[in-house]
Amino acid sequence: MTNSQRGTVTQPLLALPGDLDPQRLPQHVAVIMDGNGRWARQRHLPRVVGHQQGVETLKELLRCCRDWGIAHLTCYAFSTENWGRPGLEVEFLLTLFERVLRQELQDLMREQVRIEFVGQLHALPQGLQTQISEAVALTRHHQRVWLTVATNYGGRQEIVRACQALAQQVQKGELTPEEIDETRFAQQLYTSSSPDPDLLIRTSGEMRLSNFLLWQIAYAELYVTETLWPDFDRGSFHQALIAFQQRHRRFGRL
Ligand code: IPE
Ligand code: IPE
Ligand code: MG
Repeated sequence: MTNSQRGTVTQPLLALPGDLDPQRLPQHVAVIMDGNGRWARQRHLPRVVGHQQGVETLKELLRCCRDWGIAHLTCYAFSTENWGRPGLEVEFLLTLFERVLRQELQDLMREQVRIEFVGQLHALPQGLQTQISEAVALTRHHQRVWLTVATNYGGRQEIVRACQALAQQVQKGELTPEEIDETRFAQQLYTSSSPDPDLLIRTSGEMRLSNFLLWQIAYAELYVTETLWPDFDRGSFHQALIAFQQRHRRFGRL
């Protein structure tokens, strides 16, 4: 066996913890990365330090997905409601995203990660938009893990946008209202090319969706942990996957 065969075939399954069933892993994990501010406050540090630490957590989670053969990871980085935070925090976050994207691009390339962004990207600072376009273009052929970053994303906005697109098609006579079904609707969402999440993780204990992937998580298994996002490590993800594998997904059937 050559080294490259070893890398692509054997490595992911070897790394999977023995108590997880490789046949029943989620194909797509979505995560609401919450609790950065509380993590910092507990340490008497500025909130932004929590955000910086949160980036390290995301990098490790992405490595886990790569190692364990989970193909899709979608993370909530900035909601349409997060503009309501103090200006300095918003500015810090958007600058952090740009810097991290620049610094991590080589690693994303090396690790065969495809990165994608969903949300109202045109409203983001120009520098960040440029960095996003470059990262998306350079990684679009990668197949190992697909990382989707929800930035200036709101589930309701996404649904309204899909309605507008369909209404325009009807107006042009390309579609009749009766032809609109779930498949056609989902095709108008940002996420049209990825499967729906199987598992939604929210850290820091809040039992709410905060406008994340409202359509797509109709049948996702929900996992809420008290662990704050910067503390969510490989062991925490392992626990979430064990919980997922203990669920009985019925999809309305018996
Ligand atoms: C999540 O952590 C990060 C973003 C929303 C960008 P928070 O900043 O919401 O942290 P808490 O909830 O205040 O602890
Ligand atoms: C959700 O967290 C948004 C992100 C993680 C980006 P928030 O901290 O903004 O959610 P709420 O305000 O507690 O609902
Ligand atoms: Mg929060």
